[in-house]
Order: sequence, then C-alpha cells, then structure tokens
Amino acid sequence: MTYRNDPYDPKPAAQLDQSALEDGVTAAEKAFAAAADPDALAAIRHQHLGDRAPVSLARREIGTLPPAAKAEAGKRVNEARRRIETGYQHRLVELERQEAQRVLAQERVDVTLPADRRPRGARHPLTTLMERIEDLFVGMGYEVAEGPEAELEWYSFDALNIGRDHPARTTMDTFYLAAAGTAAGEAGLVLRPHTSPAQVRAMLTRQLPVYLICPGRTYRTDELDATHTPVFHQVEGLVVDRGISMAHLKGTLDQFARAMFGPQATRLRPSYFPFTEPSAEMDLWFPQHRDGPRWVEWGGCGMVNPRVLRACGIDPDEWSGFAFGMGIERTLMFRHGISDMRDMVEGDVRFARGFGMEV
Ligand code: DAH
Repeated sequence: MTYRNDPYDPKPAAQLDQSALEDGVTAAEKAFAAAADPDALAAIRHQHLGDRAPVSLARREIGTLPPAAKAEAGKRVNEARRRIETGYQHRLVELERQEAQRVLAQERVDVTLPADRRPRGARHPLTTLMERIEDLFVGMGYEVAEGPEAELEWYSFDALNIGRDHPARTTMDTFYLAAAGTAAGEAGLVLRPHTSPAQVRAMLTRQLPVYLICPGRTYRTDELDATHTPVFHQVEGLVVDRGISMAHLKGTLDQFARAMFGPQATRLRPSYFPFTEPSAEMDLWFPQHRDGPRWVEWGGCGMVNPRVLRACGIDPDEWSGFAFGMGIERTLMFRHGISDMRDMVEGDVRFARGFGMEV
C-alpha cells in the first residue's frame, strides 16, 4: 500500500532479485548436501524454508511490488521455494537410505553361526545310574552311606572274615597304600577293592536295625581292557534286623532287578564269600542276549556271616542280616548293551550324551 502509486522500481525488493533467489537456492542445496543426518537436515531446512529464510522474506516483499509485477515475482519466489523444498526432500530420502543401510550393516545377524559356542556336557551314565539306585532304595526305607576309598585293611578284609592267609585276600588284587606294620596299631591302608568295608563301619557305628546301601568307587590292580578296569563302582547293600531271612534277600534283589532291567527271571545260585553264610550269586535271565538266551551273573549276596556280626559286636542269636554287592558298570552294560568297559572310563562326552540329560 505504501508504494501504491509509485512507479515500478525493483530495487526495494532486494530479495526478489533473480540472482539473489538463485543464490538462496544454491546456498540451501549446499547446506542440505552438508547435513550428516536427518536431524541436522531438519535444522537446516528451517534456515532455508522457515519464516526468516530468504525465500520467505522475498515472499513478504511481493506485497510491496506494483500489481503488474506481483504475479511474475510470485512465480519466481514460488519456483525458488519449490526447488529448495525438492532439494530438501531428495537429501532427506538419501540420508534415510544411508541410515537404513548403516543400521542393516550394524545389526546384521549371521544366522549360520553356532547358536551355543560352548558345547553342553552331559552327566556320566554311571553317576545317574547310581542316583537311580539310591532313589530306589531310599524309597524302600534304606539309608545311603558313604565310606572312605582309602580304607583300613582291617575293615576291608579282617572284619569281613578274610584273614591274613585267606585266598580272597590275594585274589582281590588290591592296591596297597601302606603295608601293615608288625607293631600293634600299625594298620595297613588300601584302596578299597570292594564296598563291603562300608558294612563293617555301619555295624560298628549305627544302632540296629540297619538298612543301608553304599554306592561308590572301588579299585583293583587290573589292566584296563574291554572287560576290566582298575577303577570301578559297586553298590553294597546291608540289612541287619531281627528275623531277617534269605526270603527277604531274594525279594529285595528281585525288586532291584526289576527296577534296573524290567520284569525278568532271576535266580540265586549257591556260591561262596567269606563274609556271608550261606552265599549266593544273583543271576539274571537275558532271553535276548547277543550270544543267545542265557543266565548272566549280576553280583554276590548272602546272609551276613555270624563271625562278621560278632566282629562288629552284634549278637547273632538276636540279629540276622543279608548283604549284597553289585557292580555298577556291569549293571549299566546289561541295561544298555555296552560291550566295552573302556567306553565307560574314557570320559568321551559323546558316549555320555547318548544317555540323555537325565538329572
Ligand atoms: N564284595 C564282593 C566283591 O567285591 C561282592 C559281595 C558279595 C558283596 C557278597 C556282598 C556280598 O555284600 O554279600 O566281589
């Protein structure tokens, strides 16, 4: 309105000058190109398209122009504005594409990498089998006892009616840690060749009646081969109560056999052990044995010898008992058709894994 009657003079409309508009567009495009990310670009957009941007000021100056010049000036300003806006949009698309690519590269997941770089181990089947046996007997009211693996000779032999000159003393090839001295009190120390000394310890320390098992490691001077191992495991069983008979022994071992191998014929075959009288071997009937149907010896058992009861301070006229000793390796071999002892000794996790992660 101010200049309504003035002749057209482009000078006051400095911002409307074509080259000034051109400079504004170039400056905006340069600034957009320099923006490193969409946030920076948004800030720059404001400088070039906001209220105080040159093109916005130029648009305001259109009002100062004489009517004849307005349309043409408006066109040029709008064109400049459109180019800046387009420049902005292009740069925005470009920056967003770069950003997406960066995120893709950074967050890339190699799906071919192993999911778990530390292979999981497995519990040894001998361990889990011993735990199963413990569960079975605990369920029948037994205690689980432990004894030392470095055991006194007296508990290992003498108290079990295996005297100095008894042949069993030499047939059980024993590792000696310390020989018995000649002076009184100089006891010999061995790596226990069976779990039977646990019977003696139990009878000497516990109140009667006693119902216990003792699973554990045992040692003999055997070379490692398919059928022998110098370190193996047994489970000892001992019951001392009033009126215990061979029938209790048979019933208990049948229960044990059923839990280990399923319903299966068993038999007690007369045998000899110094610490039981009478003594027997428990045999299992394997109709599917790979060498044809047959009886297989599982372990020794019998009625606790009165001499052993007496050595432990128990009156055999009042108390009687049974005992048994089964090899855990043998049990595992029968259960799972393992034919080579060494598989159970070498500790290869591939063997253990085959039994699953039973806990
Ligand atoms: N201790 C015997 C061995 O290692 C096994 C054994 C047999 C244990 C008869 C017993 C038993 O308790 O009554 O060969």
